[in-house]
Amino acid sequence: MSPPQPGVTVFLTGLSGAGKSTIADALVAQLEAEGRAVTVLDGDVVRTHLSSELDFSKEHRDLNIRRIGWVAGEVVKHGGTVVVAAIAPYDAAREEARALVEEHGRFLLVHVSTPLEVVEQRDVKGLYARARAGEIPQFTGISDPYEEPSRAELTIDTSQTPLEESVARIRAAMDPVG
Ligand code: ADX
Repeated sequence: MSPPQPGVTVFLTGLSGAGKSTIADALVAQLEAEGRAVTVLDGDVVRTHLSSELDFSKEHRDLNIRRIGWVAGEVVKHGGTVVVAAIAPYDAAREEARALVEEHGRFLLVHVSTPLEVVEQRDVKGLYARARAGEIPQFTGISDPYEEPSRAELTIDTSQTPLEESVARIRAAMDPVG
């Protein structure tokens, strides 16, 4: 039996510090104010629960994103709304997550494209300085790759776009056309 309305996953991908969690929090607050229940899968939280044994090798990052995609698909299957915030640096893994979700509903990939110079300047968690000092191996953007998405439904640079506008653009894209 199909749910009354199709489920949707909003998947925010981008560098650490790009603004993924900030946008996710604001988007979730708006959706909840509309009376909509939301499942949030934030990279940092997923890594303390679902993926606590994983490191930051390509193999483990891909496994992390596959798990997130599978969980998102299970929620979307029942008409639910999911907001994911994860670096997800590899295009093939993001596309695998897309396929797992699109079996059951809609998938919106949002590339939070804030440039490395900006996020490194902000360095909210102090991780870029540590990565530059060689204290954190395989750090995305410094000593590990970030592949630009081959197809993103939206691209948002938080150094150019105010938070309210970012949320409004995603919110508008979530409603199916027609
Ligand atoms: S992902 O690559 O598997 O998608 P995920 O979004 O779960 O990454 O976790 C990223 C968070 O882990 C970052 O925001 C940062 O706080 C932390 N982190 C620790 N080590 C690394 C690393 N080597 N590269 C990137 N982020 C790291």
